[in-house]
Amino acid sequence: AFAQTTVQKSTTTKEITKSKLTEILEKNRTAYTKGKVADYIPELGKMDAKAIAFSVVTEKGKVISVGDTNKKFTIQSISKLIALMVAVNEKGEKNVFDKMGYYGTDKPFNHFANLESGKPLNPLMNAGAILTTSLIEGEGEVGFQKILKMIRYITKNDLIDYSKSVYESEKETGHRNRGMFYIMKNSGLIEANDEEKLNNYFKQCSIEVTAEDLAKIGYFFAHQCTRFDGDTTYKNSEISTLVQSQMLIAGMYEYSGEYARRVGLPSKSGVGGGITVAVPNKMGIGVFNPSLDTHGNSVAGYQMILDLVNEYHLNLF
Ligand code: DON
Repeated sequence: AFAQTTVQKSTTTKEITKSKLTEILEKNRTAYTKGKVADYIPELGKMDAKAIAFSVVTEKGKVISVGDTNKKFTIQSISKLIALMVAVNEKGEKNVFDKMGYYGTDKPFNHFANLESGKPLNPLMNAGAILTTSLIEGEGEVGFQKILKMIRYITKNDLIDYSKSVYESEKETGHRNRGMFYIMKNSGLIEANDEEKLNNYFKQCSIEVTAEDLAKIGYFFAHQCTRFDGDTTYKNSEISTLVQSQMLIAGMYEYSGEYARRVGLPSKSGVGGGITVAVPNKMGIGVFNPSLDTHGNSVAGYQMILDLVNEYHLNLF
């Protein structure tokens, strides 16, 4: 027998304060200079590179936000979490994952990885996300409306809508996404007579949110799909486990492994500059700054998350 030493990991979190969030935000205010605003979707290129916001929903559901808290930006890839939830709620996990993998990736978000020979790698890269949205039942815009309704529910914000100009911009220039859509149609993964299901994907990416909305989304998945105000209408620990595990392995695309090493929390980025983080059974974090690194992740957003995680010992590992 050998002596066992128990390393006591702190189970209580120091109280998050607005002044601490402000301090972290100010420290990273100029980090935008190390990245670049996405312009492959032309309309996104118009964003103010300096806009920055930081929001936390605490364990008890209290919202603390600093910076440009009213600044709206498009949710982009973070919408893939909600689409996954809606699709799995309707079809069941097995039916969704018969058509795609649970794999991580060493490829960028818009890569055709595995598509030619088989199924999309996971539901968080574009290919798998386009497929996920296509699996949601309903004609025309119905699938998109379900995603929008769920985001409005989670954030308790009925004013949330999508940006028509970003949507049009994505639709006009999203030829890679269109290519993936048709490859999956060709292989029978997607059943569609027109491009409405692809348009629903473009629309979901164009939904406008704030950092606070993202923190509420993070909180929702961190708490078995319980809303920040305690509402349990969609409570489901199977879904939250599924979504968080995918966030951990693929939410930051090919940077996910290194990110897991440094931050150690399920997170999802979007090219609009947002990142949502779930601190399991604790809190939700939402950050925003549109200047991105080469993986498509917000530079200042990542730094703010890392600083918060280190300050409050939030890393799961
Ligand atoms: O389809 C696209 O390329 C965008 N609507 C979403 C990509 C995205 O947000 C990748 N995330 N970092």
